[in-house]
Amino acid sequence: MGSVSVRDYHDSDRGAVLELLEAALGSGPGRQRTPEWFDWKHTTNPFGRSIMFVASADDRLVGLRAFMRWNLLTRDGNVVRCVRAVDTATHPEYQRRGIFRMLTETALEAARDAGIDMVFNTPNPRSGAGYLKMGWQVVGPIGVMVSPRLGGLFRKRVAGENTHQPPLVGDALPATSFAIDDRPPRGLRTPRTEAYLEWRFAGNPNATYHKVVADGGVAVLRSNVRNGRPELVISDVFGSEASRAIRAARQRSRASYMVGWFSKGSPERSAAVHAGVFPIPRVKALSLIARPLVDMPVDVRSLQTWDLSMGDLELL
Ligand SMILES: CC(C)(COP(=O)(O)OP(=O)(O)OC[C@H]1O[C@@H](n2cnc3c(N)ncnc32)[C@H](O)[C@@H]1OP(=O)(O)O)[C@@H](O)C(=O)NCCC(=O)NCCS
Repeated sequence: MGSVSVRDYHDSDRGAVLELLEAALGSGPGRQRTPEWFDWKHTTNPFGRSIMFVASADDRLVGLRAFMRWNLLTRDGNVVRCVRAVDTATHPEYQRRGIFRMLTETALEAARDAGIDMVFNTPNPRSGAGYLKMGWQVVGPIGVMVSPRLGGLFRKRVAGENTHQPPLVGDALPATSFAIDDRPPRGLRTPRTEAYLEWRFAGNPNATYHKVVADGGVAVLRSNVRNGRPELVISDVFGSEASRAIRAARQRSRASYMVGWFSKGSPERSAAVHAGVFPIPRVKALSLIARPLVDMPVDVRSLQTWDLSMGDLELL
């Protein structure tokens, strides 16, 4: 292997980066790494353009590191400027030679220079160990809340992992009519601005979100197929009567079950439980880790400090 050099990502790298992601992570239904997806995630994100570095060796691009910008609000309403350590890949022929570490350390330095306060992410098992070695700390497990439908679990499986036949009867979420008056944060919480909601739920080229509106509540949902069963993902809910919206979605759904997650103690979690969506004990969907870059006013290593929904965490 020739020497490895690291530099800023340029827009002209996009094609090579998509090929690299494909080589390192493979492709699958619902995971189309298209130019539109890449731009949605890393260029048009309302929190700002991602901090990205690439590594090259032997005249080819062999590594990518993307830190996606994200803001969180504290209970006091202060903005914590974050990045999320998301897409990272080293070409299979170049792995275990320190490229991921080199790229991540370079990106950390750039994040510090850009005034970023904290990095957080939910790594997969392949990268998790590397982050902990580089000073990330475990915040805690993100669980799963589920509402099975009577008979739904016994329904015939559908072909393929994903389907364009939505199990939910509902209108596609219109981008323009989705302003909400969000509640105050209970802990570190994504500000649900109009720009964020439009980008997050209407703009995502890889997923179609629906909304179900009930008196005093709105549920934002995504149809999915997992292990051959149609599932309805509750990405977010809003309003004082959010449980009504979840119940309405459940009634209109043809999915085998509903699945979601909200931080402990949040009104959304109570609404979900009220609507029959219960936490499954000891089941972990994701592991949340964080790396503060400055002295933080709150203890980010405690899961109690975070106020999250499934929609905050799953990015696709
Ligand atoms: C995860 C990945 C980016 C690591 O890249 P890499 O350049 O091989 O990683 P490095 O050589 O810099 O390793 C840094 C540390 O990460 C950890 N690590 C890396 N690969 C690992 C593996 N396969 N198993 C366990 N730990 C691993 C180790 O702690 C390693 O330190 P060490 O070599 O001193 O033990 C690479 O395996 C990859 O592209 N995987 C497929 C894509 C992916 O899963 N990306 C993450 C989610 S987007």
